[in-house]
Amino acid sequence: MTKAQPLTRHIISINDLTNKEIETIFEVAQGFLKDLADDNISYRIGRSTDVAAKSILATLFYEPSTRTRLSFESAMLRLGGANITSADPTVSSAAKGESLADTIRVISNYADVVVIRHPRDGAARLAAEYSQIPVINGGDGSHEHPTQTLCDLFTLKTKKKSLKNMKVAISGDLKGSRTIHSFVYALARFGATIDPLPAPGMELPAYVDRRLREEFHCRMVSKDPGQPHGGSIDALYVTADQPHQLSLIPDPEIDYGLLVEKKIDAVYVTRFQKERWSEKERAYPKVDAKFLGEARFSEASVMHPLPRVNELDASFDTDRRAVYFQQAAYGVPIRMALILLLLHLQKNQSLNRFSGGFAEPDHPVYAQPIGTGLQCDNPNCITGDPAERQYAANKFYIVESDSPRQRRLRCVYCEKDIDETTAVHFVVADTVRKTFSPGLQPLAHAGHDRLKHLVIYRSDAEAAASGFAPRDSGGNKVRTG
Ligand code: NCD
Repeated sequence: MTKAQPLTRHIISINDLTNKEIETIFEVAQGFLKDLADDNISYRIGRSTDVAAKSILATLFYEPSTRTRLSFESAMLRLGGANITSADPTVSSAAKGESLADTIRVISNYADVVVIRHPRDGAARLAAEYSQIPVINGGDGSHEHPTQTLCDLFTLKTKKKSLKNMKVAISGDLKGSRTIHSFVYALARFGATIDPLPAPGMELPAYVDRRLREEFHCRMVSKDPGQPHGGSIDALYVTADQPHQLSLIPDPEIDYGLLVEKKIDAVYVTRFQKERWSEKERAYPKVDAKFLGEARFSEASVMHPLPRVNELDASFDTDRRAVYFQQAAYGVPIRMALILLLLHLQKNQSLNRFSGGFAEPDHPVYAQPIGTGLQCDNPNCITGDPAERQYAANKFYIVESDSPRQRRLRCVYCEKDIDETTAVHFVVADTVRKTFSPGLQPLAHAGHDRLKHLVIYRSDAEAAASGFAPRDSGGNKVRTG
């Protein structure tokens, strides 16, 4: 009998972890903070263990990093393991044009776990498809940064005990900040209220806003007590206890007025993500003593994933509410815990339940090779990278929203949606019958084998140009000529 291999888990999104698993990571991290404490600083790991001796972590970074890479490497050393690193794409084979898909297959044979950072949205998901070892997303474009969120949540938990009913303001570049995207999903999942304070034009992206409301049960409540219903702007995201529909039906258990008036428990500041914008400067809020002097921030922990540039005044560092250096310090115990669990080196059986994922998406997946049918229209998606095109696919979740008629496609890699618009009218072509028909309906009930024969286009004209004929209402091929 062959021995069962432990499951290879990849942490690409914060939603790849269940709430229970996040709690387990915190418990293990807390254990390290206790057992390997620095004698003088409570949140610093001061000693090492050898639990991961002989294991190797690879850090593969295509973008600048200080905290994420060094805290992962420090975590591995504290566990008794070793690191190999490729931190400068100009001196690796990336400079010769090597694809991520090839690089990761090679690295899979050199290390036991890999952390990757990449400028393209969805790069870490593509890497995971080609990896035999666990892939941890250390930040992919403006998509997600799940391990930063683990540090953020852990910091909040140590300060405030429970996230339930906590009110967290998020400030700055909510559009370009990957840290924010992972963070807001987690806040919603743990029952916090989110108070967005975006810089002008930098609101949460539509796909994140929509997932908060449709999948994470957030209800929009206007910050203006005179307005009963909130729009996406100037509204709080309040998490309901019960699933679904709650974006429409108020939860009788929640006093929304009280939540609007409630003081802020934490404010999370982010820098302008200039590398994700074409402009190098934009009007941007400055968080300083004056701003934080408002009564609503009097008990707020002030957080920042760092690096900060000018948006958070250094004079604030000595304020009792500043927790950002502690937040960065937690990168070591949190990442130690994550590595240990992913490598199945956790000996304590009660903590060794690291399986499954958060609500594994049960949406059907449509996939066709790049070049066939509809492609993700996010220009920064990994599927648009010329070096990766032959390794990626046009792969979408078929997502149904409130009404089954409203189907849309979510790119499996970057998770951005493609909606029907005035310019986009999905049609589905059948490669066996050589016909096409309007709408995504044929995909909804197609089994796996049938899905392989269906190709989505954006319009009748695109399907026709690819050699398909329209079907009439009786399902017959329309004769032309
Ligand atoms: C963040 C990142 O890379 O997204 N940095 C980090 O890992 N702490 C935040 C940022 O760069 O602004």
